[in-house]
Amino acid sequence: MEKRFNKMKQVYLESYGCQMNLADSELVMGVLAKAGYFPSDSPQSADVILVNTCAVREHAEEKVLGRIAELNRFKLKKPELVLGVLGCMAKHLGKVIAERAPYVDLVVSPDGYRRLPELIGQSGDKPYLDLRLDRTELYEEIDPVRKEGVNAWVTIMRGCDKFCTFCIVPYVRGRERCVPPDEILRQVRNLAEEGYKEVTFLGQTVNAYRYNGTDFADLLHLVSGVEGIERIRFTSPHPSDFSEKDIETIANLKKVCNHLHLPVQSGSDKVLKRMRRTYTSGEYLDLVGLIRDKIPDVGLTTDIIVGFCGETEEDFQATLALVRKVRYDSAFMFKYSPRSQTVAYRKFEDDVPEKEKGRRLEELIHIQESISREVNQTWIGKRVEVLVEGESKKDMSQFYGKTDNFKTVVFPRNGEKPGDLVEVEVVNSTSHTLLGRRV
Ligand code: 5AD
Ligand code: SF4
Repeated sequence: MEKRFNKMKQVYLESYGCQMNLADSELVMGVLAKAGYFPSDSPQSADVILVNTCAVREHAEEKVLGRIAELNRFKLKKPELVLGVLGCMAKHLGKVIAERAPYVDLVVSPDGYRRLPELIGQSGDKPYLDLRLDRTELYEEIDPVRKEGVNAWVTIMRGCDKFCTFCIVPYVRGRERCVPPDEILRQVRNLAEEGYKEVTFLGQTVNAYRYNGTDFADLLHLVSGVEGIERIRFTSPHPSDFSEKDIETIANLKKVCNHLHLPVQSGSDKVLKRMRRTYTSGEYLDLVGLIRDKIPDVGLTTDIIVGFCGETEEDFQATLALVRKVRYDSAFMFKYSPRSQTVAYRKFEDDVPEKEKGRRLEELIHIQESISREVNQTWIGKRVEVLVEGESKKDMSQFYGKTDNFKTVVFPRNGEKPGDLVEVEVVNSTSHTLLGRRV
């Protein structure tokens, strides 16, 4: 491989998708920092432009293809600039990208980031495709370049073994593997020393964590002992992977936050079965009951898909009934988007018309919004502990932060600083935010 003389040092990295992918971007910057690259805030001044992509819905991929074409303008002005596409869509559509955007230099899947410095420096046939998955890659010993703030992400597992029939993740991020507890502890201790107050454990099915004898609850215990870290969060768990021990642990450990993101996807047993979600709506509701029993005031959020293959009006009504029963604090809601490679794409018909998917989504959002509003109103008059994160984007005289159960609270600033834990009385609310004053 012929090496190009490497004077290129400024990297502009743009990221899309879930927290797991955003955390991967921090890892990419960690790999590149070690090789002498510096982050750049704008594509104009960069020598390397990287786009870290998402493949979970078609819309995300289309957006990125458009964006890559836009970024090519900088390459036209500066031909030596290296343009790379990383992440889930790189893995999913590597060959399509090579055809539709032949000016791209690199296409690298989520397990290929260690090789980035070498790939950026090489010349040869373009684009260079590195689409391999590596069952063992955990990026141990690489310290991510994290965003500043009070919270740091820590990836504790990669990949997924669940193969829900709608989901592309197992195909683009590979099989489940867990980071050893010692490495996680090393990272969390370093973060505490750097001044972070909160860590969020990330994994596609984070509560399936298991490494030799250490399970998810054991890991929470271990990390709870790290001085300086005040709060521990995690996302996303899979409902079927919760043990009673996990729930007891979350309930009993003070630092582990009382918020669970519990993706339900559908309220219809027929649809859940076709999605291969491994629980029924009844089992899911029992779990919610157990969680609410053990963890009073727990914040519950979820993901829901409408218009999955074969979803009838009756199935959709079952989803609405479940949403009304659980009364989530908030939810991410999506129209089903067929993804090639998945079982649903290969075996089931995408038979709910686009317009009907849209109608169902609108109705669901409308109902969930009013539930969120009502749930938030029940907090008015109560006192909550808030971890201050920073200045409100809309109003510099206000600070915002989160409660233990993941509510965003905005309040007039009064001498506190990001990272402080303060007591706030809730005086008003919207469907997304609590408004408060210091007490
Ligand atoms: N179409 C629509 N939504 C999807 N999700 C995953 N795959 C698809 C798809 N093919 C949603 C699920 C998941 C969230 C991260 O994205 O709700 O929990
Ligand atoms: Fe996708 Fe299902 Fe794995 Fe979540 S659990 S990443 S939805 S396959």
